[in-house]
Amino acid sequence: MVKVNLGGCDSFVKDADYKVYVEKALEALDILKSGSGAGNDFLGWKHLPSETPESLIADCEAVRDCWKAKGVDLVVVIGIGGSYLGARCAIEALSHNFAKQLSGKKDAPEVVFAGNNLSEEYLAELMDLVAERNVATVVISKSGTTTEPAVAFRVVKEYIEKNYKDASERIVAITDAKKGALKTLATQEGYKTFVVPDNVGGRYSVLTPVGLLPIVLAGFDVREMLAGAKEMEEACLVKSEGNPAVKYAAMRNLLYSELGKKVEILVAYNPKLQYLGEWWKQLYGESEGKELKGIFPASVNFTTDLHSMGQFIQEGERIMFETVVSVEKSNRSVIIGSDPQNLDQLNYLAGQHVEHCNAMAQLGTKLAHIDGGVPQLEVSIEKLSAFNLGGLFQFFEYACGISAYVLGINPFNQPGVEAYKKNMFALLEKPGYEEQTKAIKERL
Ligand code: PA5
Repeated sequence: MVKVNLGGCDSFVKDADYKVYVEKALEALDILKSGSGAGNDFLGWKHLPSETPESLIADCEAVRDCWKAKGVDLVVVIGIGGSYLGARCAIEALSHNFAKQLSGKKDAPEVVFAGNNLSEEYLAELMDLVAERNVATVVISKSGTTTEPAVAFRVVKEYIEKNYKDASERIVAITDAKKGALKTLATQEGYKTFVVPDNVGGRYSVLTPVGLLPIVLAGFDVREMLAGAKEMEEACLVKSEGNPAVKYAAMRNLLYSELGKKVEILVAYNPKLQYLGEWWKQLYGESEGKELKGIFPASVNFTTDLHSMGQFIQEGERIMFETVVSVEKSNRSVIIGSDPQNLDQLNYLAGQHVEHCNAMAQLGTKLAHIDGGVPQLEVSIEKLSAFNLGGLFQFFEYACGISAYVLGINPFNQPGVEAYKKNMFALLEKPGYEEQTKAIKERL
């Protein structure tokens, strides 16, 4: 269960003001529930946890088993934005920190990501790895026309076709049911395909095959993840001021609109949650940053970044609030030993769990940042697990929809993303862009 604690905002906001924003958030929840708001043809994510059929998971497991039988030890997941961040977040959160370096037989293939940048060096080095391994690929693009994954896929596909007789069995495409270049290609080549539902946008798609298949391939339990998400689906639909998504949406909008806090920093105290920050930044940045409005989403990992960004957060421009993703219990145990010489002067910690130090760093930072004028929201889970990660995904998605409606924004479109693409296509002289190419060259 995901819980929201707003105690770290008490000294910044008046109770009466918070109540006003709770009312606004409850109205926004009604709009989300009834499907009467802007972008209402993209609400398919709301009930994915309770409506995902067992047959879809079985289908993902069939790909896993087929590739296992072929001895595949490297899966390249190709996609960008919502077509990779959720899977990457889950796999990094649930994997051993040193899975790659540990010796011993691996139960699942290594999953690596491509098509999320246009760096030639990245792709060349990916191919160095591919050449050493038994490889398969999952290419993900809802539109089926995005340049970054299309370029990476062309390179990986060419390699697979040259090196494996069963090439088409080593490629799975996840795309639209009917349209797009990837759909046409997959049909022609006879690839196994999964569908990104029409009514689910990229950044809300982690619990569709977009996230589920890579997570299954990496060896993690998506049934647990969906069960945790289902628990939060139910909790986030309750029309009450205790609804965690309502609480979070109300407070962040109050801090933004009434206190001028224009930056929200998602904070984690476990390096495995770094990509939760990346996934969350896309979800909130792309959903809310429109019409010259929106909270700028940033992320840090503490205590690491307390030694870099900590200075700014403590004493720089007072533009931010923090949302701490707090994990109550560590999955592993390391106790600090006693040293007879105590040269490092750490004996005062002897017998303590390292996580106790982490918890005290978290509490000390909370108090220091509140003293420094940074309100703090806390989103907590009991431990890092597939179940709780599913809960976090569903919670943040509901809270994002509610928040954006409070702000008067359509959370489900991304018109601003097109601007760079038009310029890039003009500069790359893509057929159909002749006029823009001429215009942009004159400008340069
Ligand atoms: O949230 C979104 O819609 C975007 O971030 C997309 O996920 C991203 O642009 C990739 O698009 P596509 O899956 O069509 O390649």
